[in-house]
Amino acid sequence: MKDLLRTADLSRADVELLLNTATDFAANPLRSNTALANKSVAIYMTKPSTRTRLASETAVAHLGGTPIFIRGDELQLGRGETIADTARIISGYCDALIIRTFAQSDVNELGANATVPVINGLTDDDHPTQLLADWVTIRENFGADIAGRKFVYLGDGNNMAHAWLTMGAIMGAHVVAATPTGAWAPDAKVVAQAKAIAATTGATIEVTNDPEAAAKDASVLYTDVWMSMGDPEAERIEKTKALSPFAVSQQLMDLTAKDSIFMHCLPAHREEEVATSVIDGPKSVIWREAYHRRTTIQALLYHLTRGELQGR
Ligand code: CP
Ligand code: NVA
Repeated sequence: MKDLLRTADLSRADVELLLNTATDFAANPLRSNTALANKSVAIYMTKPSTRTRLASETAVAHLGGTPIFIRGDELQLGRGETIADTARIISGYCDALIIRTFAQSDVNELGANATVPVINGLTDDDHPTQLLADWVTIRENFGADIAGRKFVYLGDGNNMAHAWLTMGAIMGAHVVAATPTGAWAPDAKVVAQAKAIAATTGATIEVTNDPEAAAKDASVLYTDVWMSMGDPEAERIEKTKALSPFAVSQQLMDLTAKDSIFMHCLPAHREEEVATSVIDGPKSVIWREAYHRRTTIQALLYHLTRGELQGR
């Protein structure tokens, strides 16, 4: 496996390896501080980022490499140079590329034309590196035996919902996406793919529009912003109305299992997709989850640049 373009690229063994290494990096961030010595990693983003950018830059630094951050408007790509040519040029100077942008197809094209690893740092369709941090956090709370547990995402059927269902499928988990029907439901192709993966791993994939039934006895309630980067502002009012039953309220949290946790990829909008009492309450693990963005990107860079991931 050269690239991490989609969550579905990862095998269960890859995820296990990455989670274990991330746990090591959490205990000892400088364990492999020469792994990327004399190497550079380009981080190219055409959308804003707090966590992914800083986690990536610090992960490269902890591995002894040099991060090179490039804003979307700074490359000749914006002036008509092709993705393929850009990929070849970056491959000549850098040892990996982390990209955040809109179209998944642009990331796929970069991966196909770059000779160095390309990592998806979020597209409109997927957010694979977030899910690695989420699953280290899930492991820290529940251990590896997740039989009988239910992992529930509530809200927009967006990139996070896709990644949530897909990673849950890979991990053999019972995952649920509770979303509105219609325009803000998850992509049917992604759901079908998650179900196909689930058939090989023993996972259960459930898509529902009933937030109470989803929350009942859940081990995790997870949510994301209602307006993603790039979403049309004109949809805000209609979308907010459609999503309001899926807000993680205290009442919804009270339906969950006794040892349940609340997760959010962040950034968060308190009193919109989640109640302040939940996100800032005792069940919230958001800071640890955000911290693991670095440990997992560090693990991913470490294993991908050494050619140690198999892919699915
Ligand atoms: N969760 C996440 O990807 O955060 P940023 O948008 O700040 O990178
Ligand atoms: N769905 C959000 C995730 C942010 C990390 C977005 O794409 O903006």
